Amino acid sequence: MTANDGKGPPLRVGEVRFSYGKTRAVDGVSFEVAAGEIFGLLGPNGAGKTTTISMISGLLTPESGQVLIFGGEASGASGAARARMGVVPQEVALYDELSAAENLRFWGQLYGLRGAALQDAVRQALGLVGLTDRRNEKVGKLSGGLKRRLNLAVGLVHGPALLLLDEPTVGIDPQARLHILEVVRDQAKAGCAVLYTSHYLEEAEQICDRLAIVDHGRVLAAGTVAELRRLVGEGPVVQLRGEVDADRLKALAGRCPGVGLLSCADGTASFSARDAAACSGLVRELFQAGLKLEDLRVQEPNLQSLFLKLTGRELRD
Ligand SMILES: Nc1ncnc2c1ncn2[C@@H]1O[C@H](COP(=O)(O)OP(=O)(O)OP(=O)(O)O)[C@@H](O)[C@H]1O
Ligand SMILES: [Mg+2]
Repeated sequence: MTANDGKGPPLRVGEVRFSYGKTRAVDGVSFEVAAGEIFGLLGPNGAGKTTTISMISGLLTPESGQVLIFGGEASGASGAARARMGVVPQEVALYDELSAAENLRFWGQLYGLRGAALQDAVRQALGLVGLTDRRNEKVGKLSGGLKRRLNLAVGLVHGPALLLLDEPTVGIDPQARLHILEVVRDQAKAGCAVLYTSHYLEEAEQICDRLAIVDHGRVLAAGTVAELRRLVGEGPVVQLRGEVDADRLKALAGRCPGVGLLSCADGTASFSARDAAACSGLVRELFQAGLKLEDLRVQEPNLQSLFLKLTGRELRD
């Protein structure tokens, strides 16, 4: 087998670790992304998402563990293997003095495109992100949201089979965000393997076929959205804000059949309830206990409640 046999799955990450000095940023992360699949890495600031992407793109070399791209080692990946990968970095990386189209031509050339193929690729990438009308404007004059879209186009210009997207929707308006999600979905439908990092829970729920919840450089849970939801339970989740005390709430949950305390920190708490009856029993008990509450919500189990359960913290946008 050669260093890059091209036969493995688009991406296989096995037990990778990386530290910046004494800071362990990634601590044994493993996952795989298949062709046509959108796999999400979901986690708060500092969870290790960008560091993981950097080890896949070859910017950083793992301290231990392995990254395989189409079956070949990422660190020794050939130009041909690199050309099958598109990277959209978290920090926009564009030349302000060049126009949108010139930026795309530049990157397209780096990936080996020339002549008519290059022109076609640039035209197509501009169209994909809705920048055809702005193609001749200098990037320095584009708004932050438009730069983000162009940043995405740069990752797509050479038609990659593996796409690494590091928070591609940060700082853009809701309509443009929907458009970007649509572009990413279309790429996956066309067979591209997509790794998508985000700290937006709802976005990850909408777009990812499977995802891993990461925090402090570790995978806390992984699976499809439905599988992850089941980890919280089938029944509703009750969330409180106000004067909450862990010992008191634990005792209170103990008195309610089918109720468990998921989390309690920073003036918020959440419970899982087996079903609607368990939920109303809990709400009754909460009011009888005379707690000073500012807010009480009942919701379907979602990634937010799973994150609470796993970390005891909220993942805020
Ligand atoms: N260049 C660096 N030097 C030192 N420490 C770093 C560096 N880059 C990241 N870190 C640290 O490594 C950890 C993981 O950071 P990383 O950027 O991978 O997280 P992230 O999940 O991408 O976060 P964000 O959502 O804020 O982009 C954090 O503790 C961070 O402070
Ligand atoms: Mg990051």
